Amino acid sequence: MVNTKVNLLGIELDNPIIPASGTFGYGYEYAELYDINCLGSFSFKGTTLEPRFGNPTPRIAECASGMINSVGLQNPGVDAVIAHELPELKKHFHKPVMANVCGFSVEEYTEVCRRLDGEEQIGWFEVNVSCPNVHGGGLSFGTSPEAAASVVRSVKKVTTKPIIIKLSPNVTDIVTIAKACEDAGADGISLINTLLGMRIDLKTKRPVVANKMGGFSGPAVKPVAVRMVYQVYDAVKIPVVGMGGVSTAEDVIEMMLAGATAVEVGTANLPNPYASKEIIDALPAAMEKYKIKNLSDIIGGAH
Ligand code: SIN
Repeated sequence: MVNTKVNLLGIELDNPIIPASGTFGYGYEYAELYDINCLGSFSFKGTTLEPRFGNPTPRIAECASGMINSVGLQNPGVDAVIAHELPELKKHFHKPVMANVCGFSVEEYTEVCRRLDGEEQIGWFEVNVSCPNVHGGGLSFGTSPEAAASVVRSVKKVTTKPIIIKLSPNVTDIVTIAKACEDAGADGISLINTLLGMRIDLKTKRPVVANKMGGFSGPAVKPVAVRMVYQVYDAVKIPVVGMGGVSTAEDVIEMMLAGATAVEVGTANLPNPYASKEIIDALPAAMEKYKIKNLSDIIGGAH
């Protein structure tokens, strides 16, 4: 009998699997397919102050071992999330949820967190300073240690819930940014968001996605994610949530050995909506294969 439980910032998860923001809606959509209470938790779609339609279409390009998206933070806005999405979620999911928060200014991040703070079901904020698809937006915060730290300092003032800051891989020195966030009071770090990528259609000779570039994700990015989780785990004392190309139970174990306390599953949910559940179902056998009794014992085991 293996133990898949982990503790993320004071909240015990039945397992470390968390479907990643932007791949799992507001959760209840997936409840039509299976009982989503098998999940450790999930991170809901990046939520901004105002509703957003997102970027022009096409927004998706297929790639070998991955995909590019340029959704542009389409979401109904924080007030609609509070009025409609969270009450609907509560009917189906009976565990704490991670609130992914986006903004175009320090004030916007702060106001979204302030409005969501009273929502009982929110266990953690995942403050997304790493969306590559909005000009002058989140990416600039995630690429500068000072800007990322200023977001952390400001949101910490409006909530006592744990703040996990979601970082971009599109930087030269991830460690400096992670440490700046820790010094500013972040409770955890999640990484990686997508890598800026591009595809060109040979027939039209034009970029495939309307926004020209987008975020590349999927199995091809996993080695980059494992490397960054490993580096950040080494540099900070706060927990790391790892993600990037995770699509099997073995990938989860690898991410945890690199230093992840919990593991987000993103792109894998899109071609296969059962992917997160299948990974959870496969985890005990994979643990037995690699002689792991308590999953939490392996966090950072590769160091
Ligand atoms: C998007 O909505 O464009 C993706 C969000 C993200 O990459 O953070």
